Amino acid sequence: MKRTHHCGQLNLSNVGQTVLLQGWVKKIRKMGAMNFIDLRDFYGVTQLIIDESHGDLMQTIKTEYVIEVSGIVVERKSKNLDLPTGEIEIKVTAIQIINKADLVPFQIEDHSEALEDTRLTYRYLDLRRSSMQHHLKTRAKLNSIFRTTLENHNFLEVETPYFGKSTPEGARDFLVPSRLNKNKFYALPQSPQLYKQLLMISGIDRYYQIARCFRDEDLRIDRQPEFTQLDLEMSFATGEDVMLLVEELVKNSLVEFKGIKITEPLLRMPYKEAIKNYGIDKPDLRYDLKIHDLEEVFANTEVKMLAGSTMSIRGIMIDQLVGKKQLEELVETAKQNGINGFGFAKVENGTWSGSIASQLNEKEKAMLLDKFAIKSQGTLLVQTAPYNVVSQAMGALRIQLAKMFNLADPNDCKPLWVTDFPLFEWSEEEQRFEAAHHPFTMPKDCSLADFDTNKAEAIAYAYDLVINGYEIGSGSQRITDPVIQQRMFDAVELTAETVERNFGWFMNAYKYGAPYHAGMGLGIDRWAMIMSNAESIRDVIAFPKNSSGVDPMNNAPDFVEEKQLKELFIKTV
Ligand code: AMO
Repeated sequence: MKRTHHCGQLNLSNVGQTVLLQGWVKKIRKMGAMNFIDLRDFYGVTQLIIDESHGDLMQTIKTEYVIEVSGIVVERKSKNLDLPTGEIEIKVTAIQIINKADLVPFQIEDHSEALEDTRLTYRYLDLRRSSMQHHLKTRAKLNSIFRTTLENHNFLEVETPYFGKSTPEGARDFLVPSRLNKNKFYALPQSPQLYKQLLMISGIDRYYQIARCFRDEDLRIDRQPEFTQLDLEMSFATGEDVMLLVEELVKNSLVEFKGIKITEPLLRMPYKEAIKNYGIDKPDLRYDLKIHDLEEVFANTEVKMLAGSTMSIRGIMIDQLVGKKQLEELVETAKQNGINGFGFAKVENGTWSGSIASQLNEKEKAMLLDKFAIKSQGTLLVQTAPYNVVSQAMGALRIQLAKMFNLADPNDCKPLWVTDFPLFEWSEEEQRFEAAHHPFTMPKDCSLADFDTNKAEAIAYAYDLVINGYEIGSGSQRITDPVIQQRMFDAVELTAETVERNFGWFMNAYKYGAPYHAGMGLGIDRWAMIMSNAESIRDVIAFPKNSSGVDPMNNAPDFVEEKQLKELFIKTV
């Protein structure tokens, strides 16, 4: 039989109707001879009331059985106004089992206590939980907002290959051996970057794609080996045009999911300012808590760890009292971020305590309270080290302090652009400057003349979209002038031979007339995570990998048959 309604649909206006519902048994409650079942499907939960005439069958029905019932909609005596169907119930006249279910390994409840690996092993059960279905719905709606908005702006959706060519720079590639081409490998794309640039040369004016990307990196709560980008590129356009367009996507999604309406342009913060104030290029602006330069405060200090330092002295002071255990956690974070602990001082109603408190003079105390706008109480963390090192460490401490004291409102959303990134970064391993983004990123006008001789100061025409401390997307103006491109390759010390072997096919295309163009790649998993208040991107991916890159459900990656390897001319060791 076909269902007449779904389980989230019926209300007082249906009272008296005969209906047929199908779904999973969420809960069974027995009251005397009567049984109550909460019946669940994708759309909601409806209460069933079953009298003693179905007693025998009710003996056999258990939770997670799939059943079909018909009955009459009646008004409930004790209503549950939290539920859309909470004012009615179904007086069941016929009941039938569609499929039985074994005892499930964890309760299918909104908030699961089950370990994540157990949830991933039984992901199909985990996805029955309404909180997980909410995440998937949010993600699907987000994709739909992207498509509608971009198509309104004449973007064309084009798919690009998954089997590509391995290129240097960037993260490690996932390789796919080719049976037909002995000893050769495809690389799965880290992003469709080169293909989308070719599409601009093809005249596809405005391109977008919801593209799966693959990177063999260490995993974190916001990183998966395969993830999805909203990838886009615009011809006869600059980074400025791309940013304005992406702002529209941000604003549309904030209205839809958070009820936040932003009318003014998004904040733009140069990279240097982000590092100075927040110690990181993706600051969470839901709370202030800035890092400060403290050389002036400690200019003539007797604080031993700071006195006479020729390096930067930077610190952070929160208007909270940090406890002993919290302090230990903060020291651990400091060590993981390149500094060996920090000086620590607490003030409470004028009384100072902590590792450096007794060495602080009155002037320093007053200056600190003033600089950090501390009124009655606060905790200072301070250290001296090279500027970048101490900034990064203070940035990590800032994030941890915010977590400890719940400074970030989970319902708030603070998007911003971080701009003016360095064009290069120094690689200790390679002992050379590498492209900070990728080698097709245009230098900013101010660096055009000398980017290849003044690499440490060169600024890229690149921009990141940051929301609540996550890098959501990143983009740039592309180099379309062969002379600038050659200077760029020289700057990152790619030899003519390496360039020819890896990018020759690509650079060739630029000989045949290219429009100037710019674009961006946006991490949909991260964006969906924030929009649906999920804790990790794994929650907004139907079948993700765990933190070791394994799918505990099917044990991928796994060994394969010797025969398969032989066909691919591969020997394992
Ligand atoms: P980028 O490498 O910065 O830029 O990637 C763009 C965005 O993709 C997301 N992202 C990830 N999400 C989940 N797991 C990962 N392992 C992962 N890696 C990246 C982030 C990131 O901001 N081609 C360029 C874009 C361009 O210039 O057009 C690119 O891929 O949200």
